[in-house]
Amino acid sequence: MSANDDPQFWAKARAHLVRYGGAFSPLIAESAAGNFFTDAGGRKILDFTSGQMSAILGHSHPEIVAVARHWIGELDHLYSTILSRPVVDLATLIAKISPGRLDRVLLVSTGGESNEAALRMAKLVTGRHEIVAMSRSWHGVTGGAAAATYSSSRKGYGPPAPGALVLPAPDTYRSRFIDANGVYDWRSELEFGFELIDRQSSGALAACIVEPILSSGGVLEPPEGYMAALAEKCRERDMQLIFDEAQTGLGRTGHLFACERDGVVPQYLTLSKTLGAGLPLAAMLTTPEIEDIAAERGFLFYTTHASDPLPAAVGLKVIEIILRDRLTERAALLGDRLKAGLLALQQRYDCIGDVRGRGLLLGLDLVKDRRTRAPDPDLAQRVARECLELGMMTSVVRGGFGIFRIAPPITIDVGEIDLGLEIFDRALARAVH
Ligand SMILES: Cc1ncc(COP(=O)(O)O)c(C=O)c1O
Repeated sequence: MSANDDPQFWAKARAHLVRYGGAFSPLIAESAAGNFFTDAGGRKILDFTSGQMSAILGHSHPEIVAVARHWIGELDHLYSTILSRPVVDLATLIAKISPGRLDRVLLVSTGGESNEAALRMAKLVTGRHEIVAMSRSWHGVTGGAAAATYSSSRKGYGPPAPGALVLPAPDTYRSRFIDANGVYDWRSELEFGFELIDRQSSGALAACIVEPILSSGGVLEPPEGYMAALAEKCRERDMQLIFDEAQTGLGRTGHLFACERDGVVPQYLTLSKTLGAGLPLAAMLTTPEIEDIAAERGFLFYTTHASDPLPAAVGLKVIEIILRDRLTERAALLGDRLKAGLLALQQRYDCIGDVRGRGLLLGLDLVKDRRTRAPDPDLAQRVARECLELGMMTSVVRGGFGIFRIAPPITIDVGEIDLGLEIFDRALARAVH
């Protein structure tokens, strides 16, 4: 019997844990360091998901460990109206590195919260309440964020916030909008989407929230020009634009912020997962003009962990390391190597319909048939199980697709990229035959 099968552990887990996201992985994690974690059997598992897409510097990075140790002993948590140096320094640094004039920063704990804050501020400042989001979005599970989330189940939880409107997510591989030359016609799709929005709207459009690359929706990368066109549609309607860079922010895509590729600066930008690199830290950024109006109107987003010093100190170190070690460039370079390796696998496995994404945020789309592009979720689950057996953690998106989203730490090295590719190769061979 493997140490991962410990009957007492699993009996207690079954008896006392809420099942918040389907089945738990069939192993017990004991420790993690660098780009691997170790299970109860002593097996080292390559972490191709960066934990929950967050551990961008790998696990237990020595400098992060040192900062966390220092601040837990120095200044951990305070009444939420009290400021400290790490908080003001982090807000200043985020304002400096972010695009445009997103100079006002709110520091909270989770991605859902940071989006909730942006949505609340957009409603307060515009005096309207309708929120447009993409049909394959994921912005969190709290009220407002969940109302704007369409790639998870919405069934059974009662009515979402009134005014939740949806745009077709730009899916370069499976869109129904194909022109006479067989090319994805995103302009017509966007036009059509806004035609429907305008018909549904009761005249209270407040904001549009969007991930620069829709990760949980299947690593959907909008074509170049799409975000600029979307921003224009928002401007025409006097709607505010929110970019959710929970997964794409801070280097993973080969830009410090993914929206830099698109040359679009939104009214709000949210950061979370990668900012704490595994610790709970999130930020909502906006312009001084917007923040001033919100403050005049008594903006309230008062949470227990707003402006906590310990996570802020960690966030400061995370950004310092990413800038100092040029990890954004590294993500671009190693992402190219990983993508080339996946494309080489596509040559050998008919079940790989599409390889897409940027930097170290890539998608591998498994299909039953390349002609029909019918997704193969069962095969993807078998491949994921084989990967875990062979020593690599992967993530398959929800929603009936067979799409892997591949997001290793951006501290990963060439040997570990090649190991990941080798494991994918062996897992595919086992699962297909
Ligand atoms: C793009 C995006 N935004 C927001 C969230 C929600 O973040 P959290 O789970 O920290 O609330 C997620 C989580 O997966 C995400 O992928």
